[in-house]
This record gives sequence, structure tokens and C-alpha cells, in this order.
Amino acid sequence: MALPDPDAFVSMVGVTKRYAGVTALDNVDFRVSAGEAVCLAGENGSGKSTLLKILAGVEQPTEGVIHIDGLQKGQLNPRLSAAAGIMVIFQDFSLFPNLTVAENIAFACQLTQHQKWFRKRNARTVATAALERIGVDIPIDERVESLPVAHKQLVAIARALASEARLIIMDEPTTALTEREVRSLLRIIRMLKEDGVAVVFVSHKLAEVLEVSERVVVLRNGCKVAEGPAEEFDTTSLTRHMTGRDVPEHPPNALIETPETLMQVNNLNKKGSFLNVSFDIRKGEVLGITGLLGSGRTSLAKALFGLVTPDSGQIRLNGRSIPLGDPIAAASNQIGYVPEDRLTEGLFLTQSIIRNVAIGRLEHHEQHGFLDLLALVSDANKWLERFKVKTPSVEAPVQSLSGGNQQRVVLARWLARSPLVLILNGPSVGVDVGSKSDIHDIIRDLASSGLGVVVISDDLPELLTTCHRILVMRGGEIIDEVAAGTVTEDELAYKLAS
Ligand SMILES: Nc1ncnc2c1ncn2[C@@H]1O[C@H](COP(=O)(O)OP(=O)(O)OP(=O)(O)O)[C@@H](O)[C@H]1O
Ligand SMILES: [Mg+2]
Repeated sequence: MALPDPDAFVSMVGVTKRYAGVTALDNVDFRVSAGEAVCLAGENGSGKSTLLKILAGVEQPTEGVIHIDGLQKGQLNPRLSAAAGIMVIFQDFSLFPNLTVAENIAFACQLTQHQKWFRKRNARTVATAALERIGVDIPIDERVESLPVAHKQLVAIARALASEARLIIMDEPTTALTEREVRSLLRIIRMLKEDGVAVVFVSHKLAEVLEVSERVVVLRNGCKVAEGPAEEFDTTSLTRHMTGRDVPEHPPNALIETPETLMQVNNLNKKGSFLNVSFDIRKGEVLGITGLLGSGRTSLAKALFGLVTPDSGQIRLNGRSIPLGDPIAAASNQIGYVPEDRLTEGLFLTQSIIRNVAIGRLEHHEQHGFLDLLALVSDANKWLERFKVKTPSVEAPVQSLSGGNQQRVVLARWLARSPLVLILNGPSVGVDVGSKSDIHDIIRDLASSGLGVVVISDDLPELLTTCHRILVMRGGEIIDEVAAGTVTEDELAYKLAS
């Protein structure tokens, strides 16, 4: 058995975690020292979050020991872990939705300082300072539930900063952030390291991982398969360690011949969100919509599915006018919408995987006047297989899946409804490199089968590899439209920022 590293802040030795039917971690050694950033990489379901949950005291290891400051710890629990200075930003942020921004940020810090009374005024001061530190402007008296997902993520980060952390663990902290915010987060991480704080970072955006960390640890199927200084890895070698293969990307499929117009958006307006937006989507087309945070892209995406009510304008599908601001009408007209914030919107966590997929189908089958359960289940299964959802059983509850696999369940649900138009907000948020390319293949195939697909994303390589056309938004307006193959990534980045 390996020995604990006496110089490390945290040293885990021989950690194994078994759930019924799954070995999530298999004899893993892991350490992190003060002032060091370690990146934990691995495919969806490889055991990253499980390792972090054990460090946070949220889960107990089946086997193995943990040393903190050179001392062996018995069982950790969340309070002990926090008292040792370990702070975690989880994949689903774990914020209190009905508390304000200030209350959420100050909460953890007051907890670790053993303050029994929650002081409101103090909370605002603490929160303002923490938000200033990361250089973002979020109204501190707003309730967290009403914030856009990127802001929720930033609040979770500010909360970790507000307490005196010695180790900050970030489980996919940048999934919802745009380029600019990612930059400022990476800057914060550098700052933290200089202050002697240790950082463990999980992300599927490999380039940013390599940029910020000193050391990389790769997990595959619960085993540690590679470890070394970050400069010994590049995105290709990291991908190969994670997946055991190379992951090629393709250009979008050729557009189908003489395509008919499927969806028409005319002069859509919503004060403060978007202005005079008009475009068509043809059968078989993948249309990208991009823009920085605040450009209106998410409000527009939501409006296409009735989740935001425009002040004026028209949406037509196959020539028929679709009522605005009515998601039920949108869904019954076979418009599908996959939200950006999939882990907090749209899954029934305690229900089985198969049920979560079939829920979408249920209404669809009922429309035909009867419920063919077998067909329903086999169809749901087909999509779960297509997305390679990693689970021992489709009867398992969704909450037993890893974050990336939960994302796939939401995708599977919408596809099981056989939509005509599918709106994907951040289609590959939180999924690993290998699956990302699988999802891109699926998007291309769906389009080739005649669907209209809208991809809302700020992942420029993703847009360039899947879309026939890309609309660029700024300040609520479409300021540019580019066709596939006519721009490079740098040129597109320039259009976005200028
Ligand atoms: N409560 C649970 N019950 C049963 N199995 C679980 C539970 N939690 C996690 N698992 C399983 O453990 C394995 C590792 O999951 P984990 O969440 O650590 O993956 P991950 O590397 O964080 O993946 P992702 O990138 O998708 O977030 C997965 O197969 C998952 O299904
Ligand atoms: Mg995870």
C-alpha cells in the first residue's frame, strides 16, 4: 500500500468506493499540497465527483484512508471537512434557491466561524467583498432562484471564497460561464494559489485545465490511469488517457437538397432582452446562435419554446402560427427545448432513468389515445443507448448517475419525443470530450434526417463543427450571420467580442 505524502495538505491513500453494482473508485491515491492546483480529468462517470465528495465528507469511502496536514482522519463529515478548510463548489452548485445572493455567500462562512446567528447586515458586507474579489456585479439582494445559471455559478464560487478555505474544490465550475468569466476565474485561481490555497479543479474544457493546473490526474472507470506535471500533457494526450482513443471532429453534413423552410421567426421583440429578431430555419439545418453573456441568446432560445413571452413578433412552424409564451403549445407542436441548466431544471432526481426519459414520450403516446408501455420503454431505451448513458440499470434513480450522464438523460428525453425543431441550449455542457463528439454526431444525424436544430452555444469549435449557419448576437440584436466553412475560430471570436 502506498504511504501518505507527509508534505501534502490532503493525502488520500487506497481509496475505494463501491455503490450497489458499481465500483466508482478503485484503490485511488490522491494528494494536493498548499499553493498547488491539481486537475482531475476523466470521462463522465469515471469517479471524479465521487473522489471530491469523499474529500468533502459527503460520501464515506468503502476502503482507504485520508490524511489532512499529515494526520490520519477517521470518518470525515461535511462539518469536519469544512472546519479543516475544505470548500467545495459542486456540479449543481448546491445553493439555497429561495435565499438571496448575500445570504448564500455569507452562509458557509458564518457556519465555519461557528456563528449561531445569521447577521443580515454582515452577510451583505461579506457578499459584496467576495463578489468584488472575483470582479462581478450581481445584485446581492436578488433571490438566487431568479438568477441566470452563469450567475448562480459565480455565486457558488464567491461563497467558497468568502470562507477561509485552505483547499477549494471546483467540480466543473466553468460549464455555464462564458469566455470572459472563465478568464476571471482562472485569474482568481492563480491568486488563490499565491495565497497558499490548494485547488482541485474538474472540467471537461481541457485547454483551460492545462492552463491553470500544475499537476494532472486522470481517472478512467474509477482507476487512476495517469498522473504527472501539466506540461507533460496536451489536449490530445489527455483525451487519449481519458478515453483510450483519439477523438476526431467532422465538419457539418451537407445540407439536404431543396430544403423547405421549417420555422420562421419574424420581428421578435422583448424589451430589455432582444430586438427585431428574424430568421428562418430550414429542414435539415443546424442553426447556431452565439453571443456573450447578456447578448440575449438565452432569452431568445427560451422565447422560441414559449418560456419567455415576447412583446411582439411571430413564430411559425410549417406555416402555422405558434402561440407566443406558451411552452405547452410549443411542445405539442413538436418543438423541443433542452435547457442549459440541466442539473437543476428538468430532471426528477429520485425517479428512475427510464421514467425520466419516458415522461416526454408519455404525452406523445397519449395523443394517440392509448399507452403502449412496451413501445415507450423500448424507445426510451434506444435513446439511452444512443447517448451511451452509463448505468448498471435504467431502473436506477437519476441521482445515482454522474453529472454528465444526467445531462444525457435530458437530451434522450427530448429526442424520444420526436421533435420537428430541437432547441439545444449548450448541447455538450458538462459532457466529456469523447461524448461531446458523439453528441455532435447525433446532432448532424438528426439534421440529416430532416429536423431543424438550433444550437445555442459559446463553444466556438462546437458551433463550427455542427452548424450550417451561425447567428451572432450582441445587445439583443443579430449583428452578423456566418455560413459554415467561411470563418475560422479566431475570426468568429473576433466577431463576438468586437
Ligand atoms: N449514489 C450513487 N449510487 C449509485 N451509483 C453512483 C452513485 N453516485 C455515483 N455513482 C456511480 O459512480 C460512478 C462515478 O460517478 P461520478 O459522479 O464520480 O463520475 P464523474 O467522474 O464525476 O462524472 P461526470 O463527468 O459525468 O460528472 C458512476 O458510474 C455513477 O453512476
Ligand atoms: Mg461529476
